[in-house]
Amino acid sequence: MRLIKDELEIAELEGVVRSTKRGFEDVIRTLKKAKTEREVEGIFNLRARVEGNDVGYGTIAASGANACILHWTRNDAPLRRRDLLLLDAGIEGNQLYTADITRTLPISGKFSKEQREVYDLVCAAQAAALAAVKPGNDFMEPNRAAQRVLAEGLAKMGILADAEHALSPDQQLQKRYTLHNTSHMLGIDVHDCAKARQEVYRYGKLKPGMVLTVEPGLYFQPDDLTVPERYRGIGVRIEDDVLVTTTGMKNLSRSIPRTSADVERWMAKVWATS
Ligand code: GLY
Ligand code: MN
Ligand code: MN
Repeated sequence: MRLIKDELEIAELEGVVRSTKRGFEDVIRTLKKAKTEREVEGIFNLRARVEGNDVGYGTIAASGANACILHWTRNDAPLRRRDLLLLDAGIEGNQLYTADITRTLPISGKFSKEQREVYDLVCAAQAAALAAVKPGNDFMEPNRAAQRVLAEGLAKMGILADAEHALSPDQQLQKRYTLHNTSHMLGIDVHDCAKARQEVYRYGKLKPGMVLTVEPGLYFQPDDLTVPERYRGIGVRIEDDVLVTTTGMKNLSRSIPRTSADVERWMAKVWATS
């Protein structure tokens, strides 16, 4: 039953996404002077307690190379202006539905050349994955679409020798840098319906009323010698919450800026009005 959300549940999810956007804007406002990941966590979590029940899961405030550690929740590193901040955070409302949003923000307000290159590739992968969210498609189709764009981008960057070879089922070489699949169901639990039967979830079809995340990422470990030095320590994820409709999908978090240019404009606007 929980795989298909009704109107009330969708309205709840839309509400917690709106709250989560405000939490992200609180973080941006504070990024000009914040000194640690802990402050970022504290500021976001305050919004969660003011507007909702709590955070839906431990806030991931991962700056610099910490972004390459999935589920970094120690949040104890100092912030450096030249780094990115991967903020994966979601507010759980009073009806206990949670958002699950990631934005990767340049702490200075501007992406460096290499950061932008990685970011734009993840953004293109997410666009391909979002386009694959439609009823009747396999649940895994958005992931396949994202993995293809990422592998092709990694090949262009000279990190993978050949995208087709990397993508073949017995190789999957891009996974060294992509680390996780692109989607999970979302609802009362952040990883909703995680114990649903595989034939209706992981190996099932997308159906109207399902709400899932679309969250590709690229992570270049700081000590990975297969990656050109200038990219090492960059980790990027972009995560949105999406409703499958009868004709396609509705991105419930579409009002949260996503492209590198829009993220820079968003940060500048929040700073100009605070
Ligand atoms: N925040 C956990 C996840 O994105 O799945
Ligand atoms: Mn997620
Ligand atoms: Mn997340």
